[in-house]
Amino acid sequence: PIDPLVIFTPSGKRGRFPAGTPVLTAARQLGVDLDSVCGGRGICSKCQVSPGVGAFSKHGVTVSADALSPWNAVEERYRSKRGLAEGRRLGCQARIEGDVVIDVPPESQVHRQVVRKRAEAREITLDPATRLHYVEVEQPDMHEPSGDFERLAAALEAQWGVAGLTAGLDILAGLQAALRKGGWKVTCAVHAAGGAPELVSLWPGFHEGSVFGLAIDLGSTTIAAHLCDLQSGEVRASSGLMNPQIRFGEDLMSRVSYAMMNPGGAVEMTRAVREALGTLTAQIAAEAGIDPALILEAVVVCNPVMHHLVLGLDPVELGQAPFALTVSGALNLSAADIGLPLAPAAKLYVLPCIAGHVGADAAAVALSEAPNRSEELMLVVDVGTNAEILLGNRERVLACSSPTGPAFEGAQISSGQRAAPGAIERVEIDPATKEPRFRVIGSELWSDAPGFAEAVAATGITGICGSGIIEAIAEMRMAGLVDAGGLIGSAGQAGTARLVPEGRTHAYVLHDGRETGGPFITVTQGDVRAIQLAKSALYAGARLLMDQMGVDTVDRVVLAGAFGAHISPRHAMVLGMIPDCPLDKVSSAGNAAGTGARIALLNVAARREVEALVRTIVKVETAVEPRFQEHFVNANAIPHATDPFPNLAA
Ligand code: FES
Repeated sequence: PIDPLVIFTPSGKRGRFPAGTPVLTAARQLGVDLDSVCGGRGICSKCQVSPGVGAFSKHGVTVSADALSPWNAVEERYRSKRGLAEGRRLGCQARIEGDVVIDVPPESQVHRQVVRKRAEAREITLDPATRLHYVEVEQPDMHEPSGDFERLAAALEAQWGVAGLTAGLDILAGLQAALRKGGWKVTCAVHAAGGAPELVSLWPGFHEGSVFGLAIDLGSTTIAAHLCDLQSGEVRASSGLMNPQIRFGEDLMSRVSYAMMNPGGAVEMTRAVREALGTLTAQIAAEAGIDPALILEAVVVCNPVMHHLVLGLDPVELGQAPFALTVSGALNLSAADIGLPLAPAAKLYVLPCIAGHVGADAAAVALSEAPNRSEELMLVVDVGTNAEILLGNRERVLACSSPTGPAFEGAQISSGQRAAPGAIERVEIDPATKEPRFRVIGSELWSDAPGFAEAVAATGITGICGSGIIEAIAEMRMAGLVDAGGLIGSAGQAGTARLVPEGRTHAYVLHDGRETGGPFITVTQGDVRAIQLAKSALYAGARLLMDQMGVDTVDRVVLAGAFGAHISPRHAMVLGMIPDCPLDKVSSAGNAAGTGARIALLNVAARREVEALVRTIVKVETAVEPRFQEHFVNANAIPHATDPFPNLAA
């Protein structure tokens, strides 16, 4: 008789196997993506499948109810102790007896698609560097004098094909106790990212529950992290805090100067940022309710100065031409090297830097937004204290960074504050009456809606955040309260009680809560100047890349960065932050650098991808490019002194 036919869905892979072949074995032989941590011992339940019954017209097979073997003792034991959902079987126990169609549900696939967050440009296929393997190890024997580690390594090779295992002293120190406690059965966490596989954690017996990784976006002003489940790809918690290095200088160059001027200054800044990463780790683990010792690896993306400071490298060379990095390539380190309080043997991957001014954060944005895969010419702007700018398509990608300063993050703004509940984030000004209305973070209501006062009673109205100040100034420009030169209340524009004198200039009153002891929130001339400087730097950087590319327009603009995601495209264009482009072609990517870190954490192949991509990106150095100054000056006007903005008129 001919062997039974097995068809796996959704892959469609099929083959004939002798009756009695376990489903997991058939899946392995066909290259079907079916997970297993226990190696077919009926312990982990990662191999669950759903066999179909009935006629499958698409596949031309009719499946009888007895196409799989009846439940054996192992499967029964699992079902009675842990339970199995209706229709599910353990792939390692169920054997093929007749023609069958077997569905592999998403949670049983190793390389499953990770649930995509809103605004994420690409799918993430789960393929982490760290995997769990359950093994049974030979007991020692006086006639066979090999070490426990060697027998563990041999078991991993024989049972999982993991060859050439290595381990550090931290792990070896606990190895004998774990093996004996587990009765020579242990769960190993093995990290393999191109080099020799390394044992990074070990549990006696079968390790229930998951293991985790941390994706860290280390910015000059804020540090953000995502805690990801390495077995499902799910984000279990996200958290952030202010970079404590702000006290040494708000922007990057002032931190480099601090290191130059103060002996031991760099060491002090290294200590500060490492401490903050420790705090953030504890915070995020607590939020997810997990032990930080279950975090087995971290990925860090950051700009070149933060890169050097967190690694304990002197950043002084980054402050002067030719802006040489100590090391630009990707780094495979131990988390302990930078004092991250994760599992003792946890690993650390640092994305490569593109150039002395264009860091691993820009590399992460390139990985997440993938301009190199785009047909259209894409401008990606990661708005932060330092803006990272990428321009390109399939043919080539250019990158630069531009020192925008912290104004976009609400710093240097008279009523500025971080984006937090109570901050004004949306502004509209009636061009006829010049009256404003606004929304604050934490409430859906506009300030002129009934119930607004009650809605914001808990937080109050505390200040104005980056997106709020951009909208306020753009709205002031559209309402004729600010001229193209950035002057508030110049001749012919006054005539509203909302404009009040401030020294020799004017300020626009956005909110006056003084009667009730609240704040007096205005947009001052100084605020407009600060935003003009920041937006000119941003625009000039983009424009410089466009010159290099030989173009005057771009097809698409992506605003990235924790703050970039909140900017309204129209207001950004009214202000001239970004070059003209059809408004429906301007989109937000959220924290693209953080997403890039997450991609590199969850998919080990993406690390090779970004390393290769970085080698092809052409870097443009704004600091030594004379055209940058010229573009900067022209971009000071709102929206611009010379460049046309046809899409704004439309
Ligand atoms: Fe672990 Fe089947 S492979 S239960």
